[in-house]
Amino acid sequence: MSHRKDLIGIEDLTAKEIIHYLDIADRFASVLERPIPIVPTLRGKTILTLFFEASTRTQISFSVAAKRLSADVINFSKTSSSVAKGETIIDTARNIEAMKIDGVVVRHSAPGAAKYLAENIDAFVINGGDGSHEHPTQALLDIFTMRQHFKDIAGLKVLIVGDILHSRVARSNIFGLKKLNAQVTICAPPTLIPIGIESLGVNVHYNLDEIIDKYDVVMALRIQLERQEAGLFPSIREYRNLYGLTRERVKRMKTGGIIMHPGPTNRGVEIDPDVADGDRSVILTQVKNGVALRMAVLFVHAGGKIE
Ligand code: CP
Repeated sequence: MSHRKDLIGIEDLTAKEIIHYLDIADRFASVLERPIPIVPTLRGKTILTLFFEASTRTQISFSVAAKRLSADVINFSKTSSSVAKGETIIDTARNIEAMKIDGVVVRHSAPGAAKYLAENIDAFVINGGDGSHEHPTQALLDIFTMRQHFKDIAGLKVLIVGDILHSRVARSNIFGLKKLNAQVTICAPPTLIPIGIESLGVNVHYNLDEIIDKYDVVMALRIQLERQEAGLFPSIREYRNLYGLTRERVKRMKTGGIIMHPGPTNRGVEIDPDVADGDRSVILTQVKNGVALRMAVLFVHAGGKIE
């Protein structure tokens, strides 16, 4: 399959392209089970992780993924770079070009930053999260984890609970899950739901207790604590009482239903500690799958060929 130079968002992809990433990730998941989990596929390539915002999972797992593919990896963060001295993203891009980097994974607070970078450099660009726009590899690893668990995404009932308004993870998941014919419902206080979200083909609910027993997957999103200061919900305690994944609520989920969370979690706010660590939780499986999925993304965009 021919592929795009860059991965900016799930909105741009076809269902076939999404499945292609997932199928390749399946192969790399097997590689990661070997005693020596390294393949020479990207030997001689250099990947830069260019993170203007904090990250634990995304930056580390791209870095591990690149190393498992035998690529050279350079990790860059805002605080340790000349960006902290006022250098612009386009100057940064020109320096990347001068150093003959093959691929860049970028995270930035501005929606559109990854696209802008992609349009200005020859290296392939993977969006590691741009503001509230998209986080495509998070959605791909989430969908990969759902497919691993349930075999088929079509018809799967997925509930996303939390701050949909500011969530790039929710947007990317909604695009991907709808393209693969899942049924997607979102649930949050009305102030945390974007106007017109129904046009993406999702159902909207406000009362978690009325619906939690209906879903195969319940995905909690991080409540960004600064949102409370902006007056978007009355208090952390009230949010937890109405929307938190508590032990009592989770007991009412469907048999076989799973709990997901992209991380980082606010334990005791959107998810209780015993739920995050409980039998239904696949949160660490998501993190584990992130490496195989990101190996697949780097492989595809570096022009790798499956024998
Ligand atoms: N899920 C996610 O993007 O986590 P990080 O912010 O730690 O990368």
